[in-house]
Amino acid sequence: MATRDDEAGRVRISPSILSADAYELRNAVERTIAVGVDMLHVDVMDGHFVPNITFGIPLVESLRRHVDAELDVHLMISDPEMYAPLFAKAGADIVTVHVEAAPHLEKVLRSIRASGSRCGVTLNPGTPLDDLNDALGMVDMVLIMSVNPGFGGQSFIEGSLKRISDLRRTLTEMGLDVPIEVDGGIGPRTAGEVVKAGADVLVAGSAIYAANDGDIEGNIKALRDAVRAGLHHKR
Ligand code: DX5
Ligand code: ZN
Repeated sequence: MATRDDEAGRVRISPSILSADAYELRNAVERTIAVGVDMLHVDVMDGHFVPNITFGIPLVESLRRHVDAELDVHLMISDPEMYAPLFAKAGADIVTVHVEAAPHLEKVLRSIRASGSRCGVTLNPGTPLDDLNDALGMVDMVLIMSVNPGFGGQSFIEGSLKRISDLRRTLTEMGLDVPIEVDGGIGPRTAGEVVKAGADVLVAGSAIYAANDGDIEGNIKALRDAVRAGLHHKR
């Protein structure tokens, strides 16, 4: 019987399908959902904001038609003002934009909401956390990048742990109950620390779809075990 992520505590896993074999995507998604994961992280890259090109609107539309999971769309694109509402209309449940790419952040966030999706904000590892402050009261999730965006399979940047705990403190001080998602280099070795620092949603790509010859079920279990251990130590 499938175990849902919320049984492991408040922490959810959002598998990044970027690391799945494109030809085998359907199979990878079905196996992911079958073990009770209820969120999928879709990395949209435009070859401009980041040096890589990945998915677009048709994939989100197709996933929406076929998959009963929350679609967590991470836009690494230069013109979120133009495209973010289109991803919302395509069926994303949450659309997250980078502060570095959005000079009119408030406007973009409002347009995502108006197009029927929740909204999130994110920032690169080198961008000061303070750049988020004006947006914190307007978002449904904050994403802390723990690698420089562009590619799966990079190593977790250790300094991200302090950024997670600092952000958690700021949110608490502001009286905001906003989940923190963390993205980049998350696997069984880093998940516990990230959870201890205050993360609520863990993105994992290569640790789920590439590690151990693509043993998706075993890899998700290992991540959940690491999350549980992290939560346990937190108490
Ligand atoms: C990086 C992407 C990530 C990436 C994570 O730019 O935003 O979502 O797919 O991959 P891993 O888990 O392999 O670091
Ligand atoms: Zn991502």
